[in-house]
Amino acid sequence: MNTKLKVAVIGLGNIGTAVATNLVKGNRAVIVADRTIEKASALSQKLGSLVQPMDIASAIKEADVFVFAVWFNAIKELLNTYATELEGKIIVDPSNPIAPDEKGGFKKIIGQTESAGEIIAELLPKNAKLAKALGTLGVASLANAAFQKPANVLFYATDDGSINADIEQLILDNGFEPVRVGGIDQSIRIEVFGDLHEFGALGKTITKDEVTQLAEPSLQ
Ligand SMILES: NC(=O)c1ccc[n+]([C@@H]2O[C@H](COP(=O)([O-])OP(=O)(O)OC[C@H]3O[C@@H](n4cnc5c(N)ncnc54)[C@H](OP(=O)(O)O)[C@@H]3O)[C@@H](O)[C@H]2O)c1
Repeated sequence: MNTKLKVAVIGLGNIGTAVATNLVKGNRAVIVADRTIEKASALSQKLGSLVQPMDIASAIKEADVFVFAVWFNAIKELLNTYATELEGKIIVDPSNPIAPDEKGGFKKIIGQTESAGEIIAELLPKNAKLAKALGTLGVASLANAAFQKPANVLFYATDDGSINADIEQLILDNGFEPVRVGGIDQSIRIEVFGDLHEFGALGKTITKDEVTQLAEPSLQ
């Protein structure tokens, strides 16, 4: 049986709010934190008693799994600031290493062949475990394509098989079907512009049946 770990969402913008909202729909308790306690309290009031607001330092002490729903550079800062407190914990990185370009679109802020997942993996606190997850879809789909029948897929990547079940449970509780793409070296496939991202070659949400039709043995 899978015991559910305590999860905290740090950063309550588009993605953090969508993840917390999905988890409540999935009947999973969640700690929420942002730079101000007011933002966390407001979200808790809106979503109800499954959502516990905290400041970031308290959330990091309390939870086992962290969804860092902040921009790529802010994840690096958080890992550095809370390096000791995050030892041995599970870090979920949904980030896309992008910034607005001059043409109203987005450009990558790291090398073309680099991934945020691999860079974050180099910065992990001692014994912390990393999953790249919850960033495969744009926020509209993360919110609106959750809890569908048949379920839509969220891809994830991790080097640490011991956390597969916890990450899969987190994805299930968000109302999606988990599919592992492989290790962190596969992160680039599920970040923006990647072949399995909604804003990449895939270009849409996808169900498990459609994943099977991709006929890629590593994804079955
Ligand atoms: N939006 C999408 O469709 C989408 C899709 C997939 C993945 N992602 C990824 O998800 C992450 C979050 O994106 P988003 O669209 O949700 O961004 P967002 O709406 O700008 O939200 C970011 C949140 O993080 C907070 N924050 C910033 N620095 C922080 C820090 N050091 N500690 C704690 N909180 C901090 C911000 O607070 P303030 O308001 O105080 O600045 C804000 O509430 C990004 O890495 C992005 O690449 C986004």
